Amino acid sequence: MFIADICGKAGRQATAHLTEVLKEKFNADYVVANVENAAGGFGVTPEMSRKIFTYGVNVQTSGNHIWDRVDILEYFEEEPKLLRPDNYPKSAPGSGVYLDDVSGTKIAVMNLMGRTYMHNIDCPFKAAAKNLAGISKETNIIFLDFHAEATSEKQAMMHHLDGRVSAIVGTHTHVQTADEYITENGTAYITDAGMTGSYDSVIGMEVGPSLGRFLTGMPKRFTAAKDDVKIAGVIVAIDKTTGKAKSIQRYRYDFDINKIDESKFAILGYKPKRSSIAHLQEDDSNDN
Ligand SMILES: [Fe+2]
Ligand SMILES: [Fe+2]
Repeated sequence: MFIADICGKAGRQATAHLTEVLKEKFNADYVVANVENAAGGFGVTPEMSRKIFTYGVNVQTSGNHIWDRVDILEYFEEEPKLLRPDNYPKSAPGSGVYLDDVSGTKIAVMNLMGRTYMHNIDCPFKAAAKNLAGISKETNIIFLDFHAEATSEKQAMMHHLDGRVSAIVGTHTHVQTADEYITENGTAYITDAGMTGSYDSVIGMEVGPSLGRFLTGMPKRFTAAKDDVKIAGVIVAIDKTTGKAKSIQRYRYDFDINKIDESKFAILGYKPKRSSIAHLQEDDSNDN
């Protein structure tokens, strides 16, 4: 199960309350979430990342915003399950690949970033091929979060890795696309998984400053928006033996912090069994 870009406190709260509910609904074994916008839209703090793991997330991916909070640099040394795009130059802290073991089954999560209309970092296509040479010896269950702006670059990556990875899920635009499918060679693909956060916004941020920047051409201070919250992403079913994708399904559900039980019921159609989320550390951070 993949949770698309968690944006600001609204996104963190939706993730806190709905991850276990969605796991129950879709019978998910493993959860990957993109956290690049968790801290008010700009990066993620170590404290937030730690909490998000307690919500039922196994691995966190990111993107261009990962460096926005400087305290994340040291955190990379202690937390290999937070990934940054692997094609940043070697001098950058952290890694973009994580190999995990799920009840005896090895799986790999990879995070790469595109270069079209983005930072001009190392080539994601070469990085993917180089990584796969090593990863493929370990497992054929490989999930890629490809964080990129251009649809063309994402589709090109799909053809580059067709049949060599289980799933390629695009992130960064925050708008879920309706093009999910599985190639003949068994790779699940979607151009963008969407966003977890406020939809009464401009890609998760408050409308005023964002619109103002377009109207005036002047820089503005952005804050994460709060209203009309949704959790979004995809569910990919992967054959444990072959590593081929069997299905890919989009999801997007409403979340209301004042109607948590109703939000859960709307997803499941019944009262959640796993709602004993006693271990859940409520997000009480003042950080937007
Ligand atoms: Fe994002
Ligand atoms: Fe991004």
